[in-house]
This record gives sequence, structure tokens and C-alpha cells, in this order.
Amino acid sequence: MSSIKPLIAGNWKMNGLRAEMDEFAAMAQGLSSELSSKADAMICPPFTLIAALAKHPDRGALAVGAQDCHVANSGAHTGDISAAMIADCGAEAVIVGHSERRQDHGETNVLVAAKAEAAWSAGLTAIICIGETEAERRGGTTLSVVEKQLAGSVPLGATAQNTVIAYEPVWAIGTGLTPEIDDVAEVHGFMRAFLGNRLGDDGGKMRLLYGGSVKPANAAKLMLVPEVNGALVGGASLKASDFLGIIRAMS
Ligand code: PGA
Repeated sequence: MSSIKPLIAGNWKMNGLRAEMDEFAAMAQGLSSELSSKADAMICPPFTLIAALAKHPDRGALAVGAQDCHVANSGAHTGDISAAMIADCGAEAVIVGHSERRQDHGETNVLVAAKAEAAWSAGLTAIICIGETEAERRGGTTLSVVEKQLAGSVPLGATAQNTVIAYEPVWAIGTGLTPEIDDVAEVHGFMRAFLGNRLGDDGGKMRLLYGGSVKPANAAKLMLVPEVNGALVGGASLKASDFLGIIRAMS
């Protein structure tokens, strides 16, 4: 068994009003010491809830992260949020390069790498997302796409402490579809080898998450794949019963 402690990170995307703080509290309360020993757990709410969740009296071991940050520390960037502001609100991590940011906001590998470095400067862990589209999967270019994204989005300063990689096939996000287990194993094995070559020991110890339609019913199978060290969960992280069910499914 891998000695890397898994991370189950929930990405609430553009969901969550203050009423959802009760759902967060239910997750935190359900995170028994037994579940906490199986995996670290984190929720990445929209910016508007970070401060409230980070100082929630029931938060306990449930960490809080953000979903994006700007590359600059401060300045004339109307509507943007810096990594320093996120850290100031009590978050520990930030997702960068999610496919929805790459698609909806035209984010490139170069920008994603700069965001990861901005996250580190603020003392945050960067959760760097990569993954192929359906056309790329069909065209048989998945591994070369993944290689290019890793090479372009993961700065050389990445360590096992300051960085988590999330492999999320774009076609599996929010669709209920998941890759074959052998395909997940192939990509994760490839990422481990690539990061080991690029970053040495740190690449060997870095958490590699799988994301895309992870649910309580498929989590056990996906989390048993070699070199999968946890999950980035969208839809199923909105309900305490589903989110805790995923952690419970970890062996
Ligand atoms: P999903 O989203 O679990 O709803 O497929 C995953 C993600 O986008 O991180």
C-alpha cells in the first residue's frame, strides 16, 4: 500500500449560499477520527464562503481551500482575488487550472504555472488540474496531452508539500462517466514517472488525485488504483452524506 496519505478535496464550484454552511458543518461533524485517519479532507467553496467556513466553530479537521487565484499579490485587477487574500481568509490551498477555468477563461499552462507559484508565495498548497478532452481521448493523444500539461503547468519549484496534482478527464467531469480503471492506472503511472523524473523524490511523493464523477458508489474502485492518492470531487461534495461516503469508501 502507498505511504502517501490520500486527500479528498471537494470543489463546490459556483454553488453555495450561506445556508450551505449547515452542510459543511455536517461534513465536519461526520469526519470522525476513524475517517480522518483514512484521508485528509478539504472543501473548496466559492470565495464568498471561505472566511466563514474557515472559522466555522465545527470545522475541526476539515480544511478549506479556494478554486482559483490571480497571479499578482495585489493591484489594479477588478474582480480578481489574490492568493494572499485567500490565505488571509484562512484557506490552506487553492485549485489552479481547473478545466472549467481553462475553457471558460482561456487559461493557459503558462498562466496556471504562474498561479501555482503565486499560491506558494502566499503559503498555500496549489492543486494543479490537468486532463484530456473527449476528442483527445478518442484521438489516442491522452498521454501526450497530459505530458504537455504537466510540463507547462507544474513549475520546477513544486514539492510534495506545496503541490497536489489532479488528473481530471474533461469528459468525465459532471457527466457520470468515468474512465476504465486500466486507463486511470495508465495515466497515473505515467504522471508518477514523469514527475519523478522532473522533480526527483518530491515527484515520487506528491499526491496525485483522480477527479471526474467520483461518487460513493465508484470511489472504492477508483481509489484502489495504483498511484491514485485521493480525489477531487465536484457534484458529490455538495452533500455531506455523499462526501463522507466517499471518504468511508477509502480502504
Ligand atoms: P464532478 O466534478 O465530480 O462533478 O465530476 C469534478 C471536478 O470538476 O473537480
